[in-house]
Amino acid sequence: MNSLKFRIFGFHLRSTNSKEILFNSLKTIEMNTVLVTGANKGIGFEIAKNLGKRGYRVVAGARNGQRGLAAVEQLRSEGLTADFLQIDVTDLKSIDEAAKLVAEKYPDINLLVNNAGIPGYPMYAAGWEFDAATLEQTWRTDFLGPFELIKQLLNTLKANHGKILNVSIPIEPSPFFNAFAYQTAKAPLNVMTKSFGMTFEKENIPVEIMAVMPGAVSTDLNGRIQGSFVKTPEQAAAWIVGLAFDGQNHNGQVINHDGALADYSAG
Ligand SMILES: NC(=O)c1ccc[n+]([C@@H]2O[C@H](COP(=O)([O-])OP(=O)(O)OC[C@H]3O[C@@H](n4cnc5c(N)ncnc54)[C@H](OP(=O)(O)O)[C@@H]3O)[C@@H](O)[C@H]2O)c1
Repeated sequence: MNSLKFRIFGFHLRSTNSKEILFNSLKTIEMNTVLVTGANKGIGFEIAKNLGKRGYRVVAGARNGQRGLAAVEQLRSEGLTADFLQIDVTDLKSIDEAAKLVAEKYPDINLLVNNAGIPGYPMYAAGWEFDAATLEQTWRTDFLGPFELIKQLLNTLKANHGKILNVSIPIEPSPFFNAFAYQTAKAPLNVMTKSFGMTFEKENIPVEIMAVMPGAVSTDLNGRIQGSFVKTPEQAAAWIVGLAFDGQNHNGQVINHDGALADYSAG
């Protein structure tokens, strides 16, 4: 992926009455574009900022206009190129409209970051205590939304040899992390990452897909937990974005923050 390209056009035009009109050079700056969902805060906002600093035009996806625009203002105030895109990843119509707009307005998009996510609350309730509506909302946000967005942008990403990053979590329940709604919602995201990656490779589709699991990060999602093992959103974003630029092929990988790859065939 090229992160930044410049193209400058300059031209003269001669009018019919022979008065030469000199047009100011029309300067077009051509950048690669990334779409980050849930970019208005937390890890998503920091991913957007990190990529903006790398020269990307950031399309900051958010479901709420006010919050999304505030994030875009903040990115722009730091000299970054950012546009707001309204997208609610639980709403197929919203995804459809957003994807069409992105494909039309940003045909150079070569990175999609499926970051928007929720854990389903109360995060650590016993599984049977969740109601179906909460589970459905969590699954729509964490899996169906990213699935649909990938489907809709796949042709454009193919044309640009793009990458897809799915922000995820370990899905094995353990005594340390047993979050029923959250893990059952991210499980298909991780499976999709492996499945699509395998098919991309088999069919020589020039797209790389990976899922990234940054570990514990202090954000609103978890009440801004603190601890020596907890990352800041900025640190998490730096690790996540770094994987897209480390020169390795991560296609089909589900990567933990310690570098371990999830392997669901083991054991
Ligand atoms: N924090 C962690 O420890 C941790 C660890 C591993 C992975 N992750 C993953 O990292 C991602 C970002 O989480 P975070 O920790 O940064 O949490 P966060 O601060 O709560 O941010 C979540 C983002 O997702 C957006 N979002 C939620 N539902 C949405 C919807 N239906 N449509 C569009 N956007 C929606 C939120 O928008 P609103 O502001 O409108 O709610 C917000 O921008 C999630 O996928 C999460 O699972 C987090």
